Amino acid sequence: MPNAQDEILIRDARPADADAAAKIAVMAWAPIREAFRVRLGDEIARGFGDMEKSKYEQVHGFLTRTPQDAVVATVGGQVVGFATTHLHTARNPDCPVGELGNNAVHPDFGGRGIGAKMGHACLEKLVARGAKVLKVFTGLDEGHAPARKLYEKLGFDKRLEHVEYYMSAERYARAKD
Ligand SMILES: CC(C)(COP(=O)(O)OP(=O)(O)OC[C@H]1O[C@@H](n2cnc3c(N)ncnc32)[C@H](O)[C@@H]1OP(=O)(O)O)[C@@H](O)C(=O)NCCC(=O)NCCS
Repeated sequence: MPNAQDEILIRDARPADADAAAKIAVMAWAPIREAFRVRLGDEIARGFGDMEKSKYEQVHGFLTRTPQDAVVATVGGQVVGFATTHLHTARNPDCPVGELGNNAVHPDFGGRGIGAKMGHACLEKLVARGAKVLKVFTGLDEGHAPARKLYEKLGFDKRLEHVEYYMSAERYARAKD
């Protein structure tokens, strides 16, 4: 286990980091899964399937296939966080949009500036690759509160808000009458 005084290093990800990063994602997303369950109720949340498995596979797949588009944070040589990037060029090649994607810090290492260090490394990576606009997508639920704070700290200052509506089919059967 790393010590608190061990140096925090940020480096490009490698395929060998995929399992550690994916396990961190599963742990770090626990408050988000819980916020979804509380907001939507168990019946609707069941429609999300096995969210732990899908998050593990999503992050593991990304770091295995495109490690050059991700960074990890290490403390004492141990991976304690990761962040992914996407450069979108198809819609307007003259104005590429760089997106900060999935990112998470091991809950034991939160609040030490690791999320911010990884965020800056990703945004610098995107700008170096030609991004003219920077973007990040996140939730407005309680589980995403640390992420929103992080993004505002990174400098994101304009936002669009979206809403996703759900209802059970049973409710619809009642509501349409
Ligand atoms: C979002 C996340 C990556 C931030 O990592 P971190 O290393 O704790 O972030 P930092 O230490 O750099 O802190 C960045 C800001 O977030 C705030 N923050 C961190 N943890 C917080 C918490 N539990 N509640 C509220 N704000 C929090 C910090 O206070 C800090 O702002 P400040 O310096 O003004 O105080 C981490 O909380 C996480 O893994 N969350 C779960 C996964 C997630 O939401 N990923 C993003 C999905 S869009």
